[in-house]
Amino acid sequence: MAKTKTVFYCQNCGYQASKWLGKCPACGEWNTFVEEVISKADDKKKGVKKGDKKAKPVPIGEITSEKEDRINTQSTELNRVLGGGLVSGSVVLVGGEPGIGKSTLLLQTALKMKGHRILYVSGEESLQQIKMRADRIGIQNESCFLLNETFTTDIFKQIESLEPDILIIDSIQTLYSDTLESSPGSISQIRETAGELMRFAKTTQVPVFLIGHITKEGNLAGPKVLEHMVDTVLQFEGDRHYGFRILRSMKNRFGSTSELGIFEMHAGGLREVQNPSDVLLSQRDEATSGIAIAAMIEGQRPLLIETQALVTQAAYGTPQRSATGFDLRRMNMLLAVLEKRSGFKLGTKDVFLNIAGGIRVDDPAIDLAVVAAILSSTEDLAIDSQVCFAAEVGLSGEIRAVTRVENRITEAEKLGFDKIILSKYSLKGLDKKQHQIEIVGIGNIEDLLQELFG
Ligand code: TYD
Ligand code: MG
Repeated sequence: MAKTKTVFYCQNCGYQASKWLGKCPACGEWNTFVEEVISKADDKKKGVKKGDKKAKPVPIGEITSEKEDRINTQSTELNRVLGGGLVSGSVVLVGGEPGIGKSTLLLQTALKMKGHRILYVSGEESLQQIKMRADRIGIQNESCFLLNETFTTDIFKQIESLEPDILIIDSIQTLYSDTLESSPGSISQIRETAGELMRFAKTTQVPVFLIGHITKEGNLAGPKVLEHMVDTVLQFEGDRHYGFRILRSMKNRFGSTSELGIFEMHAGGLREVQNPSDVLLSQRDEATSGIAIAAMIEGQRPLLIETQALVTQAAYGTPQRSATGFDLRRMNMLLAVLEKRSGFKLGTKDVFLNIAGGIRVDDPAIDLAVVAAILSSTEDLAIDSQVCFAAEVGLSGEIRAVTRVENRITEAEKLGFDKIILSKYSLKGLDKKQHQIEIVGIGNIEDLLQELFG
């Protein structure tokens, strides 16, 4: 009988050790080691067998480059995030919190991609449950097959007989391989089963979607190696209380990582949002204080987004600071800049910040709108709803230029805004006459105050 052997894995980076360690020597994280049982078979398999297949160095000029084949996923948003379609033989990991809509997204994609033979393997739900979801989505597709299985050997057997063009695995954490004795969802199992699927994708050129769970901290569960192994990592996110869902590319061997797809969850599946600015700007007739619109760029797309601030006198000793969709540390920094540069006493105020639509933003160009919203709420003076902002705010209160102002201006103009406030350094080389919209360049916080409240 094979002796049971256990090893310890770091849950953060996948580092392997023979005994438990408090701190991972590889990534420096504390308390991340878990014990896992592995069998002898695993050890044998790991060594590189001599005389397997000999690869020889080839001069780079002799290699003919193939234009990668892109498969249309029938979803503009998904195609965009993938970098122009699904690449043959690629492995795409889709991560996200439970209930965010990963299964819905991929089932819907499977149903939409008519003419392809698609196998959807679920270890999470019964076939009836998946069928119920498909009925909600309401698309018929005769060439979409469902399989309820978690054992990789059996999955590959079914693949051999069905010969699908596209494979979807829901989820990688439920799969197990009999070469290992550890339980499904453990780090070594995830690594092994993902490895088997990678080899399958690369040898057959069949693209594979893997659904992956996310930990409490918001990382993909399983070792970081999983993210290193696959070609593309997509993250599906959004506030569950809002309908909007954002599909973000975190890693993409075949495209840009700054791409973004926007969806809206409704009763019949996910709907693509093609002109997000229209939807994200809340409808309001009269101007309210504490609201400022930012002209952002996410990926390749300009996007107008509403920032809302509420500044009130703190009721208890320590003022509360909270930000949704925006980095709290950055907000605290902006508050400190305001306190120092504009003389507003914000230290005794509660400050709440919210980015409308439950969207999380990374573009630094939102700074100016955040500052404007905070000032507007502090003074209880509304900002004209036809004005938008796009600039970064520096530590000394200077208003800094951001990239691609032309695109921001055009988008604001398209949506009927009257005025856009930028950094004065953004105006260089800009032909104001080309635009209908009024373009204002400012240099510091005082200029902003002047612009806002005269
Ligand atoms: P699901 O795809 O199961 O999420 P995940 O696989 O990421 O855990 O979908 C989750 C939510 O979406 C669920 O709460 C129900 C909702 N939903 C709709 O609102 N409309 C729909 O058409 C479908 C299929 C789901
Ligand atoms: Mg699911």
